[in-house]
Amino acid sequence: MAYIISSLLLALLGSVLCMDPFSYDQSLTSECFTEPPQSSVKTGEGFKELKINENVVESVDLEEGNIYSISAWVKLRNENQRKVGMALKGKNGRNVYGGEVMAKKGCWSLLKGGITADFTGHLDIIFEIDGLATAEISVQNVRLQGFNKTQWRLQQDQVIEKIRKNKVRFQMIFQNESALKGSVISIEQIKPSFLLGCAMNYRILESDSYREWFVSRFRLTSFTNEMKWYTNEAVRGLENYSLADLMMSTAEENKILVKGHTVLWDDKTWQPNWVKKITDPEDLKNVTINRINSVMKRYKGRVIGWDVMNENVHFSYFEDMLGKNASAIFYSLASKLDPDIPLFLNEFNTIEYAKDGNGSPVKVKKKMEEIVSYSGNMKIKGGIGAQGHFAPKQPNLVYMRSALDTLGSLGFPVWLTEVDMAKCPDQVRYMEDILREAYSHPAVEGIIIYAGPEVSGFSKLTLADKDFNNTETGDLIDKLLQEWKQEPAEIPIKNHEHNDGEEGQIIRFSPEISLLHGHYTVTVTNPSMNTLSTSFSLEVTKEMGHHQEVQLVINA
Ligand SMILES: *[C@@H]1O[C@H](CO)[C@@H](O)[C@H](O)[C@H]1NC(C)=O
Ligand SMILES: *[C@@H]1O[C@H](CO)[C@@H](O)[C@H](O)[C@H]1NC(C)=O
Ligand SMILES: *[C@@H]1O[C@H](CO)[C@@H](O)[C@H](O)[C@H]1NC(C)=O
Ligand SMILES: *[C@@H]1O[C@H](CO)[C@@H](O)[C@H](O)[C@H]1NC(C)=O
Ligand SMILES: *[C@@H]1O[C@H](CO)[C@@H](O)[C@H](O)[C@H]1NC(C)=O
Ligand SMILES: *[C@@H]1O[C@H](CO)[C@@H](O)[C@H](O)[C@H]1NC(C)=O
Repeated sequence: MAYIISSLLLALLGSVLCMDPFSYDQSLTSECFTEPPQSSVKTGEGFKELKINENVVESVDLEEGNIYSISAWVKLRNENQRKVGMALKGKNGRNVYGGEVMAKKGCWSLLKGGITADFTGHLDIIFEIDGLATAEISVQNVRLQGFNKTQWRLQQDQVIEKIRKNKVRFQMIFQNESALKGSVISIEQIKPSFLLGCAMNYRILESDSYREWFVSRFRLTSFTNEMKWYTNEAVRGLENYSLADLMMSTAEENKILVKGHTVLWDDKTWQPNWVKKITDPEDLKNVTINRINSVMKRYKGRVIGWDVMNENVHFSYFEDMLGKNASAIFYSLASKLDPDIPLFLNEFNTIEYAKDGNGSPVKVKKKMEEIVSYSGNMKIKGGIGAQGHFAPKQPNLVYMRSALDTLGSLGFPVWLTEVDMAKCPDQVRYMEDILREAYSHPAVEGIIIYAGPEVSGFSKLTLADKDFNNTETGDLIDKLLQEWKQEPAEIPIKNHEHNDGEEGQIIRFSPEISLLHGHYTVTVTNPSMNTLSTSFSLEVTKEMGHHQEVQLVINA
């Protein structure tokens, strides 16, 4: 017997899914409006239009544990372009930076953000520009929407349904009635599309238990220090890639994808010692170009992305030594060496710590825009790495979401690249909040946690003790790994819908099922017919469309 398989792409209905009353639009239009658009969602639980007076909204009520999403349209009066922030000031001295946007003169931009309330009380919302009077800003249409944890989670699940899954329906065409009866479609996910990865270090080469622990869980990694310049060329002219090579082999033998970290680092502290001593810019340029060529050619085809200039929003060693366009020039060289994989700008305090203005989402976006607008860089495949070293306290999920919106508006993949948190009583809960927030954001394409078992020396986020028994955070990670891949399932072919075709063909549809994106093996069997058993592979990906129909023709 033979099967003819085809996937019919149906219209993408997902984009018009109505998610009211928990509506939140994760896109961030970079469009600038001549009139501030009125919100289309006027009702819904917890939704409020706030009254603004001279850029201040006074006395907003908060309830501890709830999440408040706040948005406003802002415009500059005189300056052409400035970062406008949202400061949330409580009567009790709490001062939270809630979000920011690059505002412009002459048109309105959407500022999104908010607060995860850790107290019950009132606060004022103040719209401000660093060092400028508030009179320079116009603000309109301030809205606030409150969510309890259950509602927030429900809303995340609705987004996950839309962005990480397709609704798949099988259409079966039989020639023979007896082949139909009792036939079952079994599906098994071979490879999930979304990967939750974990950093690894050289200790994996010394401990079989660490290696076994790692390879039984993760399919994505990045090395901590073993691919850094100071490791690979500690002595000028003497390159040594032995650790990185061995770790790369370990990863490849176990089908684990590797994101390269890092070609260069813009912080002077972390240059090889001999590099720090170089004073001649031409000499520095020569050794840097040599470094880029050396590491990128060595691992070409073996890494799935590169951090090119680590932390180049916070730091500027190469710019200071070689000129303002240094990073842009190095990204240009990197993209010539490896044009097909994303070249990441990897930065800290972008999603995890709002008060560090130096690595803020607007600044990271601006830096990436500068890099791609440098002549010849227009076609670079960029990427944004948000490190995610969170402080041991309740993360501000709505700030994190608005930061991801800003980063995502570049159109490049956004990854969380080094997620961790120091130990604290609620570490497990906070880590779960962070990871779920990232997973439910449409711009996020991967997460790498900065963690390991005790023997690995990752002391902040330790997933297993010295006997490799899971810690509570270890249980959390295992739970999410399980949840973010599809369980095997059996789909009965019922007389779900009658639609018999021409020439005696029997056409049946399976019920529509929601499948996480990934690669699958599909097997069709009929217990009463040994001859009816066949397998084929199926891709369920975003590209296939949210409603995917798979056609099987059974000539039995
Ligand atoms: C959250 O809000 C919903 C809808 O108002 C309500 O049904 C639910 O009980 C609330 N949950 C909590 C934990 O407060
Ligand atoms: C239908 O399938 C049954 C079971 O395999 C077989 O015995 C029968 O010959 C088939 N009929 C036709 C018309 O192919
Ligand atoms: C290269 O590095 C490895 C690991 O640190 C070390 O064992 C080895 O001796 C080094 N090789 C040379 C030639 O220095
Ligand atoms: C830098 O490299 C160029 C080309 O190889 C060479 O001509 C020049 O002398 C080098 N400069 C220094 C300071 O080493
Ligand atoms: C940086 O590059 C831009 C063009 O992309 C150019 O206009 C500018 O002069 C360059 N700056 C320096 C310091 O080289
Ligand atoms: C931890 O692991 C050891 C060795 O695998 C095992 O004997 C022990 O029962 C475990 N302890 C707990 C608390 O699970």
